[in-house]
Amino acid sequence: MQENDINFTGKVVWITGASSGIGEALAVLLAEKKAKLILTARREAQLETLAARLDTNVIVLAADLYDADLSALTGYALTAFGNIDIVIHAAGVGQRSLAVETPLEVYRQLMEINFFVPVAITGYLLPVCKAHMVVIGSMSGLMGFPGRTGYAASKHALKGYFETLQVEQDVPVTIVSPGRVQTGLSLSAITASGKAHGVMDEAQLKGIPVSACATRILDGVAKRKKHVIIARKEKYLYWLHWWWPALYHKIAKKYSFTVGK
Ligand SMILES: NC(=O)c1ccc[n+]([C@@H]2O[C@H](COP(=O)([O-])OP(=O)(O)OC[C@H]3O[C@@H](n4cnc5c(N)ncnc54)[C@H](OP(=O)(O)O)[C@@H]3O)[C@@H](O)[C@H]2O)c1
Repeated sequence: MQENDINFTGKVVWITGASSGIGEALAVLLAEKKAKLILTARREAQLETLAARLDTNVIVLAADLYDADLSALTGYALTAFGNIDIVIHAAGVGQRSLAVETPLEVYRQLMEINFFVPVAITGYLLPVCKAHMVVIGSMSGLMGFPGRTGYAASKHALKGYFETLQVEQDVPVTIVSPGRVQTGLSLSAITASGKAHGVMDEAQLKGIPVSACATRILDGVAKRKKHVIIARKEKYLYWLHWWWPALYHKIAKKYSFTVGK
């Protein structure tokens, strides 16, 4: 840790999507650094089990962000420890469906959780505190990928909103764009029927270990980085997307045939 890095000890951190995956791994790391945590997700039992494992002050604030009163929820989070220093917007839903079969309702669900929820929470906090916003975007927020029309759209929108916030106001924002990470995101990804994919994709299993991803995220936040890309092969695809678009299209297109398989 360097002298000017953020010291997480005693900081109040609200994590949405803390019941599993990246959010959970961040909670574990932040607890080791003695941050005070507010944990949000739908699965209350998972949050309680996690809270019991963490040797720090933790408040469980379970909610379904899809239909929660986000103004009231943000109010509860603010009063939990009296302030909020950092918000980690990790709650998110993946997608596994081709555009031709995807009804509008699926797009609305993806946009609601992945985009409107972080935007709403940020909007309620902006007038009252200058919390550092940590936004878990995706490499799909930087380029298109088959089977992810709605997911990519929601993550592009997320990046657009928070990148604009970075240049519009004096609000600290760290946008994180991970490639594949070893979490259960593919299990809960929405399909064309609106149901969960329910399959642990092989590619997901080969992703970056979740604890390594969380370490890189916290390092970026501590250094107040504006954008952190955490990826393996996807980085090269992103590079091609800019410098050799024809090859990017050729490679990415090949994955269309694997969607939903
Ligand atoms: N894994 C990857 O390869 C990858 C890559 C790039 C970006 N990301 C992003 O990383 C973030 C975390 O995903 P993950 O990979 O850690 O997958 P995950 O384990 O499935 O985590 C998703 C989290 O979001 C919460 N969530 C989903 N819907 C919710 C709702 N309606 N209300 C409240 N909480 C809700 C889930 O909790 P409950 O089910 O308990 O509600 C869970 O805690 C997401 O934004 C995802 O898009 C992941």
